[in-house]
Amino acid sequence: MADNEGNINAKDFGIGIPQVNEPFFLKGNNNAEWGMKSRLAGVFNPKSGHAVMLAFDHGYIMGPTSGLERIDLTIRPLIEYSDCIMCTRGILRSLVPPECRKPISLRFSAGSTILTSLNEECIQDIEEAIRINASLLAVMVAIGDPDHEGLTIRNLTRTVDLGTRYGIPTLGVTAVGKNLTRDARYLAMASRVCAENGAQVIKTYFCEENFEQVTNAVPVPIVIAGGKKLPEKDALSMAWRAIDQGAAGVDMGRNIFQSDSPIGMMLAVRAIVHENASVDEAFAIYEEYKNR
Ligand code: 5RP
Repeated sequence: MADNEGNINAKDFGIGIPQVNEPFFLKGNNNAEWGMKSRLAGVFNPKSGHAVMLAFDHGYIMGPTSGLERIDLTIRPLIEYSDCIMCTRGILRSLVPPECRKPISLRFSAGSTILTSLNEECIQDIEEAIRINASLLAVMVAIGDPDHEGLTIRNLTRTVDLGTRYGIPTLGVTAVGKNLTRDARYLAMASRVCAENGAQVIKTYFCEENFEQVTNAVPVPIVIAGGKKLPEKDALSMAWRAIDQGAAGVDMGRNIFQSDSPIGMMLAVRAIVHENASVDEAFAIYEEYKNR
């Protein structure tokens, strides 16, 4: 027990050495509160500044998606290769072991499926996110959707309010929609609106032209969704170009778990995102693992 008896005199005050006062490594989040920064630093690697997130939340709008029929068999072995997992609370409780130490990006908004109108959503209770120790609250935002734009921006705004109260960052997810274009102009607008409304991280799509306009238009980190399954080399090329043009990471699903070598793809994507590997180097990593 600490007491005054035999107490060694404190004298190493480092007089003349300014106190360490480093800026936070993630774009746009220097003024966040400690708990929020701590969660962000769990998702994004402070050394590379980047993150490989594994998304398998598709079932909340698509039901038993190809590759996600048996999450215990297909996704569990991939978790250890990710920096963060993105899923629904249902799958988390049923199939992700609580021993998993990876940060969780919780699918926080939900409400309609691909069978009706996407994006007719509400958000969950913040207590639920605290209970499962979420590190990100993922909310869909449908900019340009005349029926759901207002609703989904209100969902985002409310989530940011709740998350800020408890130090949990919000991931604004720019929505997929039948009539929404995926060019730089649209993606920059949708992502910027999410950031203006307080999202600490944005998830959006890559676009072939001028993607750097999207990353530069937004004051917080952007991670890209993978989108529909591509040939492996094309998916790796997309990841490389996204990072090269300023993305802070990927939040990929189908291009990982629908691959013929999901672990090979995880390793290859990691090499690009964290180690600056070229597309050819990453593809070789994928092939090497696949052909073991
Ligand atoms: C839709 C989502 C998805 O559910 C998912 O995370 C997307 O992953 P991918 O496109 O890489 O399969 O967030 O916006």
